[in-house]
Amino acid sequence: SSVSSDKATQETPSYACQRRTPLHHHNKEIVDALQILALSASFQGSEARYLGFTRAASVLKCLPFTLQSAEEVKDLQFCGGHSKTVIQEILEDRVCREVEMVKNSEHYQSMKVGFKVLTGIFGVGIRTADKWYRDGIRSLSDLNEIEGKLTGEQKAGLLHYTDLQQPVTRDEAERVEQLVKGALQSFVPDVQVTMTGGFRRGKQEGHDVDFLITHPNEEALNGLLRKAVAWLDSKGSILYHHIKGRSHNFARSSTMDGHETCYAIFALPNACPEKSPDAGTIQPDLDKSPPRNWKAVRVDLVVAPYSEYSYALLGWTGSKHFERELRRFSLQVKKMSLNSHGLFDIEKKCHYPATSEEEIFAHLGLLYLTPSERNA
Ligand code: CTP
Ligand code: MN
Ligand code: MN
Ligand code: MN
Repeated sequence: SSVSSDKATQETPSYACQRRTPLHHHNKEIVDALQILALSASFQGSEARYLGFTRAASVLKCLPFTLQSAEEVKDLQFCGGHSKTVIQEILEDRVCREVEMVKNSEHYQSMKVGFKVLTGIFGVGIRTADKWYRDGIRSLSDLNEIEGKLTGEQKAGLLHYTDLQQPVTRDEAERVEQLVKGALQSFVPDVQVTMTGGFRRGKQEGHDVDFLITHPNEEALNGLLRKAVAWLDSKGSILYHHIKGRSHNFARSSTMDGHETCYAIFALPNACPEKSPDAGTIQPDLDKSPPRNWKAVRVDLVVAPYSEYSYALLGWTGSKHFERELRRFSLQVKKMSLNSHGLFDIEKKCHYPATSEEEIFAHLGLLYLTPSERNA
């Protein structure tokens, strides 16, 4: 076992962007457990513990074998201390008491409900979920009672909670793609639309569907997102949307994303229209509400000017931890600042244009990783 652990150490560089992280790996139980502890830490406001557990989980995703004993992780980076005790307990007892306790705790369960209502729309929302918890809100029905005090997007997240909690399948994502392309192409026939996020990394399901929109002629993009969303809305395909305009005055060196973005909830029509088995006969149950022929699906639409497209593509493909590590590597090792708009060399004070993701990896001196190798 010391041979395999030495080998694992040699094969595991410190930054997640320096290693290939596949979607499927060999240590699912342990990785899932560490990710529950990471989520719980972030619910408690501890960014440091969140990062510790996330890094340990991420390193284990790259292991080319199934762990048999905690001895095998003794030289692995980020897998010591608290993470090591978790790994050891799962290997010995199949479960970790701390993980079971966390999963059953009122705080974790309530935060998950609040967090889901909020991530339905934005992505973070831990502070609001925690405020709700401190206000005594423990469940969806508690949230329904304070509905009048919720913002528009919070109401939408609550209203469509059941659908949004269901994973979006690849088939559904492809049907959303057809809707989005149809709307955009009715205004600009040769607009480029790319599915990003988890689906681009090869996932078979996700919590939403992400798209990046661009065109070689920047003027073709002016007002396009608003027009396409209004068109979809007029056809009844939009349940909720919020458009964040492009911000021109953001600091080029910051990690902030200034692209024009639409956060939406689509009413995605079902694949096959449900036909009554024998139409014409009277339905026996008249009180029954008619079956719904659509599903609420979260959709993110991002518009990037052509010159920034490759940076936006890299930034919106994820995973979140991969992006975080890529930016940390850029800053700490290369003294460069990376975001979805470009790459800035802090010492040379210059920007590096790029026309492909491969070029960006090359600017950073990194081995190119395909989207499916970025599941850190
Ligand atoms: N992202 C971003 N800025 C935001 C929101 C997201 O740059 N305001 C990036 C994230 O860092 C991530 C990618 O866009 O890399 C996709 O985000 P998200 O949809 O939240 O995650 P997925 O990886 O697609 O996971 P899921 O399948 O659950 O949707
Ligand atoms: Mn998100
Ligand atoms: Mn996504
Ligand atoms: Mn998203």
